[in-house]
Amino acid sequence: MSKGQFITLEGTEGAGKSTAAVAIADWLMGRGVDLVISREPGGTALGEMLRSVLLDPNTGNLAAESELLMMFAARAQHIMQIIQPALEAGKWVLCDRFTDASFAYQGGGRGLSFERIEELEQWVHPHLQPDLTLLFDLPVEEGLQRAGRRNFPDRFEQEKVAFFTQVREAYLRRMEQFPGRVKLVDASQNVEQVFCQAQALIEPLF
Ligand code: TMP
Repeated sequence: MSKGQFITLEGTEGAGKSTAAVAIADWLMGRGVDLVISREPGGTALGEMLRSVLLDPNTGNLAAESELLMMFAARAQHIMQIIQPALEAGKWVLCDRFTDASFAYQGGGRGLSFERIEELEQWVHPHLQPDLTLLFDLPVEEGLQRAGRRNFPDRFEQEKVAFFTQVREAYLRRMEQFPGRVKLVDASQNVEQVFCQAQALIEPLF
């Protein structure tokens, strides 16, 4: 049985990643792909519990290290329980965020060293990388304006422009580092155009 494909979706707030995820999933399933849809932090019972803590504004200030380690604790469980078994069974996995988000948010946003995050990456998933990462990119101000319509911002959404600017820069740096894997989607375009870009980038995986 052939190994499945592992696709991850990344981007800053308000980039339309979640809307695109639904359209991409429908399209893949329509093409007969046996698809597992998941997200990080989350995807397992433990992961969803950690997600609640990480996103709840009542959690307040976390040490950046605690935040990073919880992301990787959720990830280790997610890989063991969901991602690895699915890929080994020949299924495709579409995951809303993965390790690039830790580099962007905890590295870029919180200022933790990229080397330290690489150590965790090497420890938790030395042999697993996405086959394709779609980076939904748009100017920070534009994204925040879109996301600003949400009534109850989570712990990350409460951050300021400077934080998201660092996150975006770190994401773009990941793309420069891994040009074969991380592909840019111009998220300033309309929903249909964004979906078309995603389709064109996923097509070669078939
Ligand atoms: P979401 O709202 O796009 O589902 O993502 C949840 C939040 O978690 C988002 O603000 C980004 C953040 N996050 C990190 O800070 N580090 C990570 O490793 C992951 C996976 C998500």
